[in-house]
Amino acid sequence: MNESIFLKACRLEKTPYTPVWLMRQAGRYMKEYRQIREKTSFLELCKDKDLVTEITVHAQETIHADAAIIFSDILLLAESFGLGLEYLKGDGPTIKKVIRNKKDVRDLPDIDPRDSLSYVLQAIRQTRGSLKPAIPLLGFAGAPFTLASYLIEGGASERFLKTKKMMGVSRLWNPLMEKITRVTIHYLNAQIEAGVQAVQVFDTWAGCLSGGEYKRNVLPYSRQLITSITSGVPVIHFGTGTGKFLESFAGAGSSVVGVDHHLRLDRAWQKIGYQKAIQGNLDPKALLLPIPRIRKEVKKILDSVKGRQGHIFNLGHGVLPQTPVENVIALVDMVHELSSSEL
Ligand code: CP3
Repeated sequence: MNESIFLKACRLEKTPYTPVWLMRQAGRYMKEYRQIREKTSFLELCKDKDLVTEITVHAQETIHADAAIIFSDILLLAESFGLGLEYLKGDGPTIKKVIRNKKDVRDLPDIDPRDSLSYVLQAIRQTRGSLKPAIPLLGFAGAPFTLASYLIEGGASERFLKTKKMMGVSRLWNPLMEKITRVTIHYLNAQIEAGVQAVQVFDTWAGCLSGGEYKRNVLPYSRQLITSITSGVPVIHFGTGTGKFLESFAGAGSSVVGVDHHLRLDRAWQKIGYQKAIQGNLDPKALLLPIPRIRKEVKKILDSVKGRQGHIFNLGHGVLPQTPVENVIALVDMVHELSSSEL
């Protein structure tokens, strides 16, 4: 396992080619997934360890990614807080009982993820047993800010006004973020105990913040989370729209920083610093183009970092449901081919 090229790249070691995996590599763009979803709700699916294993392993084996990510969701933590979670067709996820005041924050239970999310841990154990031994399995969780934004807004948001309002009231914001951070530390470390080789922390909505807001109200919690992860296990810290405060974002302490496609990868790396690995950052829409055009875009990214050690190829965000699966297979192949001829 230590020879895995994905793990080597996380540690900035030399690899024979650039490792690649994709956010949302298991999902609606695959017909096998859609067939399973016809019969099972998304939540039921996340709670069925046999189906989680099947979906996770099938995706890795179909596209030949250098890592697998456990099929799950960042919002399961919200459900385990007892807030009620629903995935409605077309509307995205909805949380029924939102957090708005001091009492709501106080009433959030101090859950033990080993109990309330034991189904995720069991699914990890089983998936680890079914994946090829040389393929690392990634665990994940939402970053404190992104999770808090769902608990406060109750679902997707455009401007995050309620979240920003609460952020201005430190006697609400601080205890909420502390609680989320504490539970997420236990959750990720439990995933590691259950068998994942690396973890990714998703701060998907951090980009709605200014640099000052991020630094003051979010960074301390992300840093506490990331630095409390079992030592020696790579942490990938991913966010979208983080270009304006990338140095602070990288300062949260992860070994790998994930960047979206709104930045040039070489410039992003310069800001992050070469003592960290970088993950990214093909525009997910590029996978809708004909294969020769995809190849051009991939080459641009690989050329920009010139084979520097510590690059993990990924998209700037998740695979879009409209993506042809052949294009994803071709992408993984071409990253391997183009990067090995470069070294
Ligand atoms: O990457 C993978 O293959 C692992 C699975 C995974 C899912 N969600 C499965 C999923 C991961 C890593 C996530 C993380 C996640 N979940 C994030 C952070 C990453 C990101 O995309 O920014 C966020 C913000 C969520 C919350 C969430 N879950 C949203 C906003 C949605 C609805 C939008 C959408 O993409 O459908 C979900 C549902 C969801 N999570 C699906 C999948 C496969 C689709 C469910 C379905 O309809 O079948």
